[in-house]
Amino acid sequence: MALNLDAVGKKIGPVTKDYTWKDVVLYALGVGAGFSEPEYTYEKNLKVIPTFSIATIFDFLSHIGVNANVNLAGIVHGEQDLIFHNPIPVEGTLTTEGKITHMYDKGKGKGALVIGESETYHSSGKKLFTSTLSIFCRLDGGFGGQNAPAEVFAFPEKKPDFEIDAQPSPDQPLIYRLSGDLFPLHADPEFAKMAGFEKPIMHGLCTYGYACRALIQNLIPGEPEKLRRLKCRFSKPLYPGDPIKIQIWKTEDGKAVWKVTNTKTNADVITNGLCEYGDILKEEIRFDGRVAIVTGAGGGLGKVYALELAKRGAKVVVNDLGGSRDGAGAGKGPADKVVDEIKAAGGEAVANYDNVATPEGGENIVKTAMDAFGTVDILINNAGILRDKSFLKMDPENWQAVIDVHLTGAYNVTKPAFAVMREKGYGRIVMTTSAAGLYGNFGQTNYSSAKMGLLGLMNTLKIEGKKYNILVNTVAPIAASRLTEDILPKEFFEKLKPEFVSPMVLYLCSEKCKVDGYIYNAGMGFFNRAAVITGKGIVLGDGKSIPAVEAVADHLDQIGALKGGKEYFELNEQVGDMINAFSAPAATAESAAKKTGSVADVFAAMPGAFNKDAAKGVTVVFQYHISGPGGGDWFCDIKDGECIVSAGVHGKPTCTLKMADTDFLDMISGTLPSMQAYTSGKLKIDGDVMKSQLIGKLFKM
Ligand code: NAI
Repeated sequence: MALNLDAVGKKIGPVTKDYTWKDVVLYALGVGAGFSEPEYTYEKNLKVIPTFSIATIFDFLSHIGVNANVNLAGIVHGEQDLIFHNPIPVEGTLTTEGKITHMYDKGKGKGALVIGESETYHSSGKKLFTSTLSIFCRLDGGFGGQNAPAEVFAFPEKKPDFEIDAQPSPDQPLIYRLSGDLFPLHADPEFAKMAGFEKPIMHGLCTYGYACRALIQNLIPGEPEKLRRLKCRFSKPLYPGDPIKIQIWKTEDGKAVWKVTNTKTNADVITNGLCEYGDILKEEIRFDGRVAIVTGAGGGLGKVYALELAKRGAKVVVNDLGGSRDGAGAGKGPADKVVDEIKAAGGEAVANYDNVATPEGGENIVKTAMDAFGTVDILINNAGILRDKSFLKMDPENWQAVIDVHLTGAYNVTKPAFAVMREKGYGRIVMTTSAAGLYGNFGQTNYSSAKMGLLGLMNTLKIEGKKYNILVNTVAPIAASRLTEDILPKEFFEKLKPEFVSPMVLYLCSEKCKVDGYIYNAGMGFFNRAAVITGKGIVLGDGKSIPAVEAVADHLDQIGALKGGKEYFELNEQVGDMINAFSAPAATAESAAKKTGSVADVFAAMPGAFNKDAAKGVTVVFQYHISGPGGGDWFCDIKDGECIVSAGVHGKPTCTLKMADTDFLDMISGTLPSMQAYTSGKLKIDGDVMKSQLIGKLFKM
């Protein structure tokens, strides 16, 4: 077993994790918070202890271990550095991506260091934190690599500014592990002994959480959102129940150093601690050097987008046909006026008077940008008209005119703009839908259809644009304009200034924007997201015989339920779920067996997969207890380069592996990495755990 040096630099993830306020509170309890800190432990006005972040990415951390192929029996957390970009919300979904950046060799018998870096985003699109960690692998040294560069660190030669005593409970790891880190070293006395400890030890990251609370309490009381960075080295194990002292020295404005000592033994358990705190520096969102096209920018919403973009540095193509509300007529006046206004304020803009509803018009709008500014980075498809009629009065001309401007118009301009964006590997496209399309509105069948068509355009374009860093999103504005003057009540007009919509649209146009394929309602300073949610659904029948119409009627409540529903990024995900619905738990063993055979087949195939060369000098008996309907007992007796696999129970196995049949088949088929199976508790190993790691070497399944 050796470290997999090829893993360095390869992308890991994205790994996602859903969490709710209960996870936040469970973590707080795990790191010693209680009644005295209701801000962390009670859902009313709940705040998140920033180090909660690291507990949420445990799955990602175990991927680092799996990819690096570390020897599990010898790993401990070496160092941890967390940089916080935004406060952590009390619920949501986190997405983490990263890589192993280095593997350092401390020498044979001295261990190795695996360094992993990751970035985590919240489902709101905000970047929350960057983690850099090192795993100290006591048993993996001596592979001939370079040693890690030495770090210079010194504590001030003065008394600490703060000293905080704390007393983790003797059972602390049993609570902490429920936040994700189920590694048996912190719960299983036998495993702990095997790893060289007298009993299970505290998670270093649990002690880190204690330190985080103490630092916040003393440096930024009540304001965990002001923590900017927390870095440290885990220097010695700590047994649960041992008292600790956290010492903090303020070094300069917004900076402190800290350590944690075991006051029973006087040993430093965490050292080289660094803490940075203060307000998040608001970075202004700018568009310098960016070229934006705004269609229908001669008035209403489009005019405000154009002015705001220019104010923040963008060069703007102000397109407007200059027609009336129903699309009749044309004129240069509206576009010219907006361009004059931008220029008068010191910005750069050029007018275009083309009709978005024709392909030539679309081409020409993009050509205007290319001729004037050389590129296109941003496109806001905003031009629009109205021709309202109740459905039976909706003649083909009014139907078509509205579809032509809104939907075909967006196609006409987006196509040439997308070509430029794809070439340069960057683009932000915003579509404009409407509540009339999302939810329906009397007299607007043409408009509602066109506006929903734009969502279909977005949904597929976001997939085609993703690999070129072209993000496509949609706004559903509500604002006072000539389109809404006879629809919205007069008293709301002032409150409905288009300026209230533009912050959302400008964000979606910015480099900061990370969301893709999202729909946002915006108006009067109110913002929310609309989405297509798909319910969990049910299977009627066995997938072979056609279900009866009556069965649909009988189960309509379940078919229609949205509880536990989800959003899909693309069609394949939904089809995948549909297919998976037929291999729900009872059938999982069956479907996994299709890939790998039954559990019995796997054991029958084991002698054939035996690697004689790797078995030289190895004497070992692996006992398997596989639970579930496809399970049973088997053991592999390996001696003198031979392997005998038998059904039944061996009298003196070297180690015993226990697993459910479905998990076992997943592990054999490769869909469940063995380390993940182990750390998640799906695989339990009794006896000599270290010998169990020979399995991968001895059998090539
Ligand atoms: P507006 O009428 O003030 O602005 C639309 C602009 O598009 C006009 O200046 C018009 O000359 C231009 N335009 C029309 N057809 C064109 C064409 N074929 N080629 C180029 N330019 C053309 O209306 P408003 O309210 O600013 O609407 C902007 C967008 O927001 C539209 O797509 C509209 O459907 C959408 N919207 C507006 C809502 C609101 O509350 N104002 C609600 C929901 C959606």
